[in-house]
Amino acid sequence: MKVTVVGAGAVGATCADNIARSAVCHELVLLDIKEGLAEGKAQDMMQTAALLGFDTRITGSTNDYSMTAGSDVVVITSGIPRKPGMTREELIGTNAGIVKSVCENLLKHSPDAIVIVISNPMDTMTYLALQSTGLPKHRIIGMGGTLDSSRFKYQLSLRLGCSPADLNAVVIGGHGDTTMIPLIRFSTWNSIPVTSFLNAEQQQQIVADTMVGGATLTKLIGTSAWYAPGAAGAALVASILRDEHKLFTCCVSLEGEYGEQDICLGVPVTIGRQGWERILPMDLNEEEKVLFAKSAEAVRSMNDVLKTL
Ligand code: LAC
Repeated sequence: MKVTVVGAGAVGATCADNIARSAVCHELVLLDIKEGLAEGKAQDMMQTAALLGFDTRITGSTNDYSMTAGSDVVVITSGIPRKPGMTREELIGTNAGIVKSVCENLLKHSPDAIVIVISNPMDTMTYLALQSTGLPKHRIIGMGGTLDSSRFKYQLSLRLGCSPADLNAVVIGGHGDTTMIPLIRFSTWNSIPVTSFLNAEQQQQIVADTMVGGATLTKLIGTSAWYAPGAAGAALVASILRDEHKLFTCCVSLEGEYGEQDICLGVPVTIGRQGWERILPMDLNEEEKVLFAKSAEAVRSMNDVLKTL
């Protein structure tokens, strides 16, 4: 199995590091446009192999896509990250051109690859990848909801004083500070509804903190986060390569599901060797349906910006 991660910045490198540690592929290529960056980080990671005991061979490349040939999965993290105070949506002008050309280059050498999109604004970049490559929809997966759901579990675990791994919680909708929908009503602590432990005010606070999860970190760190985004990307890669059929919230092409079409948006899907396999329906109440429709409207207007670039 072979994986390529494009972008050797903090998110890409962390994603590659997690993939190597999980030993899901024999070959891993890290690629970046900045001379020497991917080669350096790849070597640094390889120098952990003896310590950590993994067998994945990681190589770096400065923009030589021939090295990525025959990849089973490609992960796109390229583009600029947001600075404190910026929204993910403000990155569209710069990142759209980058993501489009990265997709073209990757598919020239790996026509059968499954594509995972991490670059922001993630929902629109996933839509762009789908439109510009013309690939079957199951092979284009946006990572956002996987990350946001993990952040949601973290926030819940703080309030409940429990292990995040014991929680079931999903964030659907867009991967934007105002477009994501943490579904607290569906969240459980090993099957016990979390709403039985939290009052309305606590529930609202958890949802609000989850929605600004990325922005909070950007403010603290000075640039956007990487450990959780990288780990989220790697978890999807593992589910694909091991054909795990695990359930994640991912940004995928909707064709009537959840009442939307001609859009990529976060919904629960299973992930396996063919990419995303099926969309799981949820019995949303009226309020949640309205939130989903509003999220779609906001993402759609961002997608419309693509036509003006
Ligand atoms: C975040 C970026 C990766 O949410 O979108 O941290």
